Amino acid sequence: MTRNMMLADDRFLLGTFSSNCSSGMSVTKVEERWVNSWENNLKLGHLLDDAGIDFMLPIARWIGYGGETDFHGGVLETVTWAAGLLASTKNISVFATIHTAANHPVVVAKQIATIDHISNGRAGLNIVAGWNKPEYEALGLNLPDDHETRYGYAQEWFDVVRKLWASKDYFDWDGKYFQLKGVHGDPLPIRGDVPIINAAGSPQGREFATDNANFLFTPAIDLARSTEEIKELKDQAKAKDRKVDVLTFSHVICRPTEEEALNYLEHTAKTNADWEAVDNLVRLQFAHAQSFPHDLLALIRDRFAMGHGGFPLIGTPDQVAEGILSLHRAGFAGTTLSFVDYVKEFPYFRDNVLPKLDAAGIR
Ligand SMILES: Cc1cc2nc3c(=O)[nH]c(=O)nc-3n(C[C@H](O)[C@H](O)[C@H](O)COP(=O)(O)O)c2cc1C
Repeated sequence: MTRNMMLADDRFLLGTFSSNCSSGMSVTKVEERWVNSWENNLKLGHLLDDAGIDFMLPIARWIGYGGETDFHGGVLETVTWAAGLLASTKNISVFATIHTAANHPVVVAKQIATIDHISNGRAGLNIVAGWNKPEYEALGLNLPDDHETRYGYAQEWFDVVRKLWASKDYFDWDGKYFQLKGVHGDPLPIRGDVPIINAAGSPQGREFATDNANFLFTPAIDLARSTEEIKELKDQAKAKDRKVDVLTFSHVICRPTEEEALNYLEHTAKTNADWEAVDNLVRLQFAHAQSFPHDLLALIRDRFAMGHGGFPLIGTPDQVAEGILSLHRAGFAGTTLSFVDYVKEFPYFRDNVLPKLDAAGIR
């Protein structure tokens, strides 16, 4: 069995986010915006694996956000993407991202167990209970307006998955949402389960996350707020005898000088932002999800243009390393990273920032 990097508690976890989606995390029109081809994802997977990066996390998306670039209009499906990457890498953990309403739990339990076997124990599961109403309508699915129903469904969905992973015995299930006859899981995941991520923002979602997930993902908009939020989440989990770590997502523009980094930020995320797509994205987020603080709209609009709402790691290698250390000090257990062009820009980060994190003792 290989070590699942997500289970290491001796380091600040680093991953990438959204390399399976067109434009990655940057809602920009610049020509060099991320091309989410399989070839580029495979190149990135090898670069990250060789550099000791811990995980890759994909976004599951079924329709784009419009604008000139149709941001996230092109998306590699996440289970098959993870299978290909896990088969081609040695150490890195790779997650699949699953919408509970669009994927039958018996099918998902087996898909995740299968990719866990392909990788000798390096698979992970990111559970999405739903928020993007037009996407649900596109699939002919109903997104309940109330969070109780959304997360009630997700809970029963995950209870089925967990029971399938608990033993190879056949069982019937007579629940509110699922009626199953004589089902069982075989194979089971290598360790019996896999690391679970959930990115809920609402109180109901946070109950779900602290009941079920190993990692809760939350935006880092204001680190003073984050410090309090992380403490609350960990206390909430502890009261249930569970340990939940909190992760966030960041966008990197790392250059030899601060001026070069800021100029590139201006170029990609202001002058050439796909503002129509940004506004569609922010409007949908605010209408149907509670992940981002609604009182900080102007700031959030800029951050969506830059990196889909991620924490800015913009500047010299020293400044970027300091930004990551500030996330660590706030109590986050790790962050994902995104770049305008992941394959082109990651090596500079690897050579100039990773050694500083090692020296600071967080990796
Ligand atoms: C890091 C991260 C990853 C997410 N991945 C996806 C995804 O791939 N697909 C998706 O539809 N929603 C995704 N979401 C949205 C969340 O799963 C969740 O539905 C949303 O934050 C709304 O939560 P709430 O309903 O509890 O407010 C993600 C959110 C974050 C912060």
